[in-house]
Amino acid sequence: MQFTLNGQATSLEVDPDRTLLDVLRNTLGLKASRLGCGLGQCGACTVILGDHAVTSCDTPMWSVAGKSVTTLEGLGTRDAPHPLQAAFIEEQALQCGYCTSGMLMRAAALLQRDPQPAESDIKAALEGNLCRCGVQNRVVRAVQKACA
Ligand code: FES
Repeated sequence: MQFTLNGQATSLEVDPDRTLLDVLRNTLGLKASRLGCGLGQCGACTVILGDHAVTSCDTPMWSVAGKSVTTLEGLGTRDAPHPLQAAFIEEQALQCGYCTSGMLMRAAALLQRDPQPAESDIKAALEGNLCRCGVQNRVVRAVQKACA
């Protein structure tokens, strides 16, 4: 199966019914995308597939063939963070951090579509990404800061 992963052409022998999250974490060693519910309901595993955010825990590999996948590992680096990553740090938009990767990827997909989203659009985009620590307001502020 061929696809693009974080800008790199990638070719894998893989069961097409495995999930993208399983392959990312357990075959490719990319651990930023988290397993939360495993049911497509919490958003911890969110990545960008093509130009849309998807929950990778319920995305089968057969649907990834020929497409582009971006994970948190492809968003920015410690030395050159994506504006969203810098803003999350400045706004302290995380507590335990378990949901953060998914929040960042969902927000990155939003900003690709709409570089200047209204607050209501940010809240609507992120409503599928759950945070049990209660930092949602800080996340919204961070996304606003990233596109200011
Ligand atoms: Fe994928 Fe919860 S782990 S949505």
